[in-house]
Amino acid sequence: MTANIIDGTKLANQIRSEIADGVQELKAHHNITPGLAVILVGNDPASAVYVRNKQRAATEAGMIAEDIKLPAETTRDELSATITSLANNDDIHGMLVQMPLPEHLDPVFAIDKLPASKDVDGLTSTNSGLLVGGRPRFIPATPAGIQQMLIRSGYDPNGKHVVVCGRSDIVGKPISLLLIQKQLGANATVTICHSRTHDIETITRQADILIAAIGRPRFINSDMVKKGAIVIDVGVNRIEAPERKSGYRLVGDVDFDGVSEKAKAITPVPGGVGPMTIAMLLKNTLEAAKSYVAQQ
Ligand code: GUN
Repeated sequence: MTANIIDGTKLANQIRSEIADGVQELKAHHNITPGLAVILVGNDPASAVYVRNKQRAATEAGMIAEDIKLPAETTRDELSATITSLANNDDIHGMLVQMPLPEHLDPVFAIDKLPASKDVDGLTSTNSGLLVGGRPRFIPATPAGIQQMLIRSGYDPNGKHVVVCGRSDIVGKPISLLLIQKQLGANATVTICHSRTHDIETITRQADILIAAIGRPRFINSDMVKKGAIVIDVGVNRIEAPERKSGYRLVGDVDFDGVSEKAKAITPVPGGVGPMTIAMLLKNTLEAAKSYVAQQ
C-alpha cells in the first residue's frame, strides 16, 4: 500500500482564501482591517523563518502584519512593555510571542501578559481553560489545523482511536482536548503517549489516527504503525544535508518513506501541518477582529 498524501499546502490555500473573503467583508462593512502582531526575541533562525511566513500570509490575506523584532538581550521589563503597548493598540486584534524565547526569559511570564482577547495562539490560561471546558475561543493554531486537515480530507476522527505522541502545551495537550470534544469533527477516543511511556509501540500500533508531535527526527517507524492508519506528522526537525546550499533539510517525526508503505494517508514535511498552522492563526486573527467589531 502507498499512502495518500494529505496536501497541507492545498488545504491551507483553500482556508486562506476563505479568510481573505472574511477580511474583505470586515473592511467593506466595518472599515476594520484585522491586525496581527508577532513578537520575535533573539536570533533563532527557524523562528525567523516561521515569523516571516506568518507575516507574509497575513499580508496576503489583506491583514496588517506587524513584526516586532527585539534583540536577544531584551529584558523581562522591556518585553513586558512591548506586550502592553500592543495590548493597548486598537489596530492590533491578534498578537503572539514567538517561542522559544531566549533562556533568560520565562515563556509563562510572557504568555500571562497577553490579553486573552488578542491571544491568537490560544495559550493563555483563559483560552486553554475554555478549551478544557468544551467551549473553545482561540484554539492553538497547530491543533486547529490538524483537526481541519482530518475533516477536510475525509478522515473524520468521530469514534476513532487517536494516539497522540507528545504532551506539549502547544500541540499534544490541546489536540487531545480538541478531539475528545462532543462535537462534529471530534468525538475521538484519545490516548496520549510521551517520553516516559513504556512500550510506546504497542500503543501507537492501536491508532486509527496517529499524531506525532515529539520533536525527534523520524521517531515513528513503520513497525509502530497499524496498516491503514492515518498519520499526521507535526515534527519539523533540521537535519544536516551537506549536499544542500543551506546545509540542512527538514524532516518530520515520522519515517515518511517506511510509514507511507503501511499507512492509508500521511502528511508530508514540509507541506503538511505547517501551512495549516499558519492558516488557522489567520483564522483566529480574523475572529479576534470580528469580536473587536462586535464590542464597539
Ligand atoms: N514556536 C513554534 N510554534 C509556535 C507557535 O505556534 N506559536 C508560537 N508563539 N511560537 C511557536
